[in-house]
Amino acid sequence: MTSSKRHISTGRRPPGADTLAVEGGVPVRPPGRAWPAWPVPADDAGRHLDAVLRSGRWAITSPGSGELFERRFSRMFAEYVGVRHCVPVDHGSSALVVALEALGLEYGDVVLVPVLTWVASASAVLRAGLVPVLVDVDPDTGCVSPQTLDLAAGPRAVLAVHWSCAMADIPALREVTAPRGVTVVEDAAQAHGAQWLGRQAGSLARLGCFSMQHSKVLTGGEGGAVVTDDDTLASLAQELRADSRRYTTRADAPQGLELEESATMMGANLCLSEFGAALLCAQLARLDEQHEIRNRNYAALSGLLDAIPGVRLLRHRPEQTRISIYEAPIIFDPLPAGMTNEQVADALTAELHVRFYPPREPLNRSRLLQPWTKPTLGPLAERFRAEHRGRVYPHAEHLASHAVLTHHSTFLGTRQDMADIAEAVAKVVFSRL
Ligand SMILES: Cc1ncc(COP(=O)(O)O)c(C=O)c1O
Repeated sequence: MTSSKRHISTGRRPPGADTLAVEGGVPVRPPGRAWPAWPVPADDAGRHLDAVLRSGRWAITSPGSGELFERRFSRMFAEYVGVRHCVPVDHGSSALVVALEALGLEYGDVVLVPVLTWVASASAVLRAGLVPVLVDVDPDTGCVSPQTLDLAAGPRAVLAVHWSCAMADIPALREVTAPRGVTVVEDAAQAHGAQWLGRQAGSLARLGCFSMQHSKVLTGGEGGAVVTDDDTLASLAQELRADSRRYTTRADAPQGLELEESATMMGANLCLSEFGAALLCAQLARLDEQHEIRNRNYAALSGLLDAIPGVRLLRHRPEQTRISIYEAPIIFDPLPAGMTNEQVADALTAELHVRFYPPREPLNRSRLLQPWTKPTLGPLAERFRAEHRGRVYPHAEHLASHAVLTHHSTFLGTRQDMADIAEAVAKVVFSRL
């Protein structure tokens, strides 16, 4: 047994701490031991892509006969999430824009957005002609909660992001917002397959939005989807993503065209390509099996980290009955003496040869969220600036400065991988005691 493994079991520092790999020491993990690759092509992926190549129908707008993969994915994903409708789109950001536009809000209405998320959660609000007001997150889950909502800002909607591997408490958010006529929309871009009391992420609010971009647990390279049980919103979402056209109901549609010009609300072309849809149909078949592997390894890591003082995984609400790991935060509270979480991440990366990184800065200070650089957003950008003067985000700042993340593919391997991670974490912590 190595010295740092002894740290895990006893919590005591042995005589003579190991030198960290970033400081020239021997890494915990031998460089030749590979980590799981991402993405993992499903068995049917090549066959499906080949079928599209030869079909002469590379887009939903291609005339022809037979079921498009786009329609097939729409059916399969609606069934997976447990909702009546799924409208596939080209990106998760488009899903957010479409969902928000479907709500029919007024130009400049306020939408509350958690400050700890990818920039698209806020920029999509601006693209829909609305003003994102950034709110703090729950210190345990990193998600927006009833306690962190700012209802005094007069929101018409809340974009509740399920962050990294924790779910926002959508039923509680709905309960406090419904009496004020505020709509909750789920940003489930990081949460395919997560469950709350057995119900899937995306099915808990009026609309749910997903991203299928390369790094997500379900990916077609790029892609997204809006899901809902509401027939009217689904029909609007179809138009908003296909230049005011929705799926035809005519069996004798001219040239087998899939879309007809219903045109109740002006849309844009945000359609998912047939190649993306074909890949997603194949990849969806593997999703739950991959969740099982990741979650088993995550539970093993959680047990191993228990023995290391001041280190833990993100806390979930007990109602979250299944986790979907997009990124797994390991929280160092306190941080190893004299180290920032960025330095901890670098140290772990050097020990393990797989990427660890700090969370992105909260959006209030993100370089990626500068609406005033875009002339078309002029008045919204001014409102955005005014709404954020003097706002502070202590919980998000704490997580952003004390967590270290790793991608979900790190959990697709073996228990030995988890032992390596725990050993590296212990080595970093004990090197500074
Ligand atoms: C929480 C969240 N919302 C929205 C998006 C946007 O998705 P996409 O990159 O597919 O546009 C992402 C992507 O990372 C995300 O993590």
